[in-house]
Amino acid sequence: MRILAIESSCDETACAIVEDGTRVLSNIVATQIDEHKLYGGVVPEIASRRHSENISWVVKKALGDAECTLDDIDAIAVTYAPGLIGALLVGISYAKGLSLASGKPLIPVHHIAGHIAANYISHPDLKPPYLCLVVSGGHSHIVEVTDYTTYKVIGRTRDDAAGECFDKVARTIGFEYPGGKFIDAAAKRGNPDAYKFTEPKVSGSEFDFSFSGLKTAVINLVHNSQQKGIEINADDISASFQRTVCDILVKKTMLAIKHTGHTTLAVAGGVSANSGVREAMQKACDKRGIKLYLPELKYCGDNAAMIGCQGYYDYLSGKRADESLNGIATLSLENI
Ligand code: KG4
Ligand code: ZN
Repeated sequence: MRILAIESSCDETACAIVEDGTRVLSNIVATQIDEHKLYGGVVPEIASRRHSENISWVVKKALGDAECTLDDIDAIAVTYAPGLIGALLVGISYAKGLSLASGKPLIPVHHIAGHIAANYISHPDLKPPYLCLVVSGGHSHIVEVTDYTTYKVIGRTRDDAAGECFDKVARTIGFEYPGGKFIDAAAKRGNPDAYKFTEPKVSGSEFDFSFSGLKTAVINLVHNSQQKGIEINADDISASFQRTVCDILVKKTMLAIKHTGHTTLAVAGGVSANSGVREAMQKACDKRGIKLYLPELKYCGDNAAMIGCQGYYDYLSGKRADESLNGIATLSLENI
């Protein structure tokens, strides 16, 4: 079964053709980062306009690269939540048009479910149930993936998402948006013991995250140093900050592993590309005999292949949308 998948929830206009869930025939991602970085973050109005300009050629290129036409496609999948509403609506409207014109079924896909599904593309042996740590620019969740289309969120961030924290710290240090990957690179050169940042205490749920305190601590350190004329070492701050994030993610995830009894863990979302997170998680899993799955780097960030993969499982479970499909800015994985 061939699915044409569209993703436009934030600042990437993406289309992929995916066969039987995990065979990616083409995967086109048109990023808008060069424009948004001028403003230090995604400007929703600009994102929607660029999606409108890019969507047609991105879809045509995905079909062309897969050497097929709309006739060879069995269904259209599209991200409908969560995300920037104006951005989502561009992809949704285009997908509805394709579905109506071709008579092919329309499958609404949750963006975070898509990130989780990226692991099925990279690892066809991965099967639910398992635990998944989702760390992206907008979300930080610990999720029990009970089946391909059912989820139980057992931990979430109380404030900033992990990626958001990376990006804000990066901006303070002087890196371009989105700065996660620059912190990753700088951390490789720096000393993780140079600065001590305390891990936040979160009352209530032992699996919930909080990153805003850590973010503020780094920002205060940088600003205080600047005011006193003390030169900051960006590599050392990056390494110390990244190590603290890794410690937090590993600690909470391993607690959740212990509590739930899962022996398989997956990590998903843009921050799963972080070399420190990948290494720390591998080490923690090896120590405990946990099988770890990490997406290939090209499927960590936003892309449409992951939407095509999840769309396949959603299709098998009977999920369909009609021309009334709307975008939803905020929607829990548990309510889909
Ligand atoms: O999943 P994603 O592409 O978009 C959302 O759904 O939010 O995640 C984007 C986030 C950004 O915050 C970006 O800085 C972060 O992923 N990111 C990284 C790395 N690569 C991307 N963070 C840390 N290290 C990286 N190597
Ligand atoms: Zn994403």
